[in-house]
Amino acid sequence: MTAGGETLTAGVIGGTGFAGGELLRLLAGHPNFDIEQATSRSAGGKTVGSVHPNLRGLDLRFSDPEDLASVDVLFTATPHGVSMGQIDRYFESADTVVDLSADFRLPEAALYDEWYEGHDAPEYLEKAEYALPELNRENLPGAELIAGGGCNATATMLGLKPLVDAGVLGPDTGEVVVDVKVGSSEGGAGGGAASSHPERSGVVRPYAPISHRHEAEIGAYLGLDVSFTVHAVEMVRGASATCHVFPDGPVSKGDLWGAYRGAYEEEPFMRMVSGGGGVYRYPEPKAVAGTNYGEVGFELDASNERVVVFSAIDNMMKGSAGQAVHAANVALGFEETAGLEFQGLHPVGSP
Ligand SMILES: NC(=O)c1ccc[n+]([C@@H]2O[C@H](COP(=O)([O-])OP(=O)(O)OC[C@H]3O[C@@H](n4cnc5c(N)ncnc54)[C@H](OP(=O)(O)O)[C@@H]3O)[C@@H](O)[C@H]2O)c1
Repeated sequence: MTAGGETLTAGVIGGTGFAGGELLRLLAGHPNFDIEQATSRSAGGKTVGSVHPNLRGLDLRFSDPEDLASVDVLFTATPHGVSMGQIDRYFESADTVVDLSADFRLPEAALYDEWYEGHDAPEYLEKAEYALPELNRENLPGAELIAGGGCNATATMLGLKPLVDAGVLGPDTGEVVVDVKVGSSEGGAGGGAASSHPERSGVVRPYAPISHRHEAEIGAYLGLDVSFTVHAVEMVRGASATCHVFPDGPVSKGDLWGAYRGAYEEEPFMRMVSGGGGVYRYPEPKAVAGTNYGEVGFELDASNERVVVFSAIDNMMKGSAGQAVHAANVALGFEETAGLEFQGLHPVGSP
């Protein structure tokens, strides 16, 4: 672990991607990181600004991922399957690896057999720490391999964790049905036909009605077996989870406020938004777009013995690059909020 004021060198593998671009934006403004390298196979030699127009001022060119610079911390933002094949090599060039893909986020190889196509480097799974500080802060200090969470799982778990802590939900307690609406950037810069503008525009499209892989993460880290459905909607950024919770016993509004305040009042990036006045009375992806903040809120539907929980994040920030930098801050002993303490924009169009 390092002292809070030290500066470390950082590399980003997959720097042309959406999550990689957000990593570069965050690291460029971070007081404790100097970016040493950003890689791309397709844009080698080009400036970062030529791919990410918001970073046009950055004095950095993409280089080949085969030619890794030696850095203190390597952030990897590549498609599933790349990091698990390269992890030995990554640790030859860096002391700490923060991987944003799904490659190390599940704790056991058997889960990769069940939900993915197995695992090439299962010996690293025990070493990996799940990135989300709100769930795993105590295990992050000194971690050498940090595994970023899935954005839909992150939104869902942030919404439900207070109810698990309070005993309202557990492996044998209560039922949960989750519906996540997510923006097109979740599909990455490569996109695909389903994410092309004419196909995506105007949709509310169920794209993973059942068996979404993020269910595995929610089971592993919250101990909950949830009924989970994801819709692709027209936003560019954002994941909004609506969780219909059916507790086994009676729950009051006071119990719920106690649970959510207890879980999040000390959290630097969590905001409670529940009822109140104005237009934005519940968690709203627009309100956190571009930031590392997460919003949660709830409503008690006593006549149906239901609690409705709302949770909103930016999928590329709290759901990916922001979460990764937050976790790295905790792991490396930096100020926890370093490089992440900025608010979003308002008003703004579809983020
Ligand atoms: N987008 C999100 O909202 C989000 C949220 C949570 C987690 N994640 C995860 O973060 C990772 C990146 O997602 P993304 O949306 O940023 O994807 P993306 O936009 O498609 O970017 C992928 C990046 O990886 C590089 N790349 C691809 N294959 C590679 C290889 N074999 N070796 C080295 N570099 C390679 C690509 O650049 P070149 O082809 O030029 O090398 C590109 O820079 C994924 O695993 C994703 O699941 C994404």
